[in-house]
Amino acid sequence: MASKNKNDEYSIKQDYEFFSHGLEGVAAFETSISYIDGKDGILIYRGIPIEELAEKSTYEETAYFLIYANLPTQAELKKFSNDLEAHISLNTEDIKWLKDFPVAAHPMDVLNTCVSLMSLPEGGDYEVGWKRESDLKAGIQIMGKMPSYIAAFDRIKKGKQPIPPDNKLSYAANFLWMLNGEKPKEKEARILDLCLILHAEHGVCASTFGTLVTSSTLADVYSSIVAGIGTLKGYLHGGANEQVIRMLESIGGPENVEKYINAMKKKDRIMGFGHRVYKTLDPRARILKKYARDLTSKRDEILFKTALKFEDVMEKKFGPKGIYPNVDFYSGFVYKALGIPTDMFTSIFAMARAAGWIAHILEYRESNRLFRPRGIYNGPVNAKYTPIEER
Ligand SMILES: CC(C)(COP(=O)(O)OP(=O)(O)OC[C@H]1O[C@@H](n2cnc3c(N)ncnc32)[C@H](O)[C@@H]1OP(=O)(O)O)[C@@H](O)C(=O)NCCC(=O)NCCS
Repeated sequence: MASKNKNDEYSIKQDYEFFSHGLEGVAAFETSISYIDGKDGILIYRGIPIEELAEKSTYEETAYFLIYANLPTQAELKKFSNDLEAHISLNTEDIKWLKDFPVAAHPMDVLNTCVSLMSLPEGGDYEVGWKRESDLKAGIQIMGKMPSYIAAFDRIKKGKQPIPPDNKLSYAANFLWMLNGEKPKEKEARILDLCLILHAEHGVCASTFGTLVTSSTLADVYSSIVAGIGTLKGYLHGGANEQVIRMLESIGGPENVEKYINAMKKKDRIMGFGHRVYKTLDPRARILKKYARDLTSKRDEILFKTALKFEDVMEKKFGPKGIYPNVDFYSGFVYKALGIPTDMFTSIFAMARAAGWIAHILEYRESNRLFRPRGIYNGPVNAKYTPIEER
């Protein structure tokens, strides 16, 4: 509220009900998609613990479950997989775009641009209103195409030809096939599938919130997912997984870990550690650590030992503050063992999280309300305008 005094000057009063820096501790909407208990390290998707889905489900089934809110019948799952497959192939126009991108481009920027390009010419529906069916169709198209874009760009930048999908393969196996040009072993495909399940959804994380802020304006699904991808890219969110491997490589071995951690300045952030919600070990990190241990090759053994030592030293130093490994600390080891280049790690996270983003768009639009918080103004009041020639 602003009022004027007798000198014609404003005085402002800001009496917001609630202030929370970074919206910590704020619930902004209701959701039935997932639940996190940050104290006990529990994550459930629509009532089912993540451990159970990781063991028994597939990424396609989990994505269906998140989006449609029920576990699919065999026929429903078949139809959903067919719907995804219908979009997986890249056309000559897609390949032309990818060939035009600078080879130095980061895969997350490529993905973002590709999703944006997918909305052309009529994907961005500016009509006021909301149509669940067209949103769902766009969401499935985006999910279908994401792995193809990521894999094809990596091949193109290495001077290789993109590989068309093999529709007999699962979503995860098809990605590895299109990336490496070799049919993945069953175990490899299953492990990537498991990683995709673990990354498919995570409550109101920053990228889901970014997606929903955009979709709450009734912008189209493409624009909303582009917002999600852009938000995920940052190092404080999905971008951390790439930085973890780079950091561990730079340390050079377990014997240097203590020195590295002790040399950190107070404001330094250790990638792959800490979480706004978890104040204990992230349940996804627990699962990924086990697979990272199983998969790590002789070549990366020192790197893995460095990670174990890192976790140990960090726990003693930061455990009492509630800072533990998060999903990004061990995921990179699994991707590395599958032959996936480090700069692609975050885009795989995005490819998996698309299911959660789409589920949230559809759910939130049922009771849509524009997100529009306030900022507490701490700038000058009654500043004088000086004409440019007098400055
Ligand atoms: C995820 C993250 C952004 C959450 O941060 P947050 O909830 O905003 O926590 P805050 O920034 O308020 O930090 C709280 C305290 O913990 C410390 N902290 C949190 N994460 C830390 C980390 N990774 N390394 C070192 N210190 C950390 C902060 O320095 C701060 O200390 P202080 O109270 O003495 O000033 C943060 O933990 C982080 O930066 N992690 C590294 C990036 C990462 O792995 N991201 C992936 C998340 S899945």
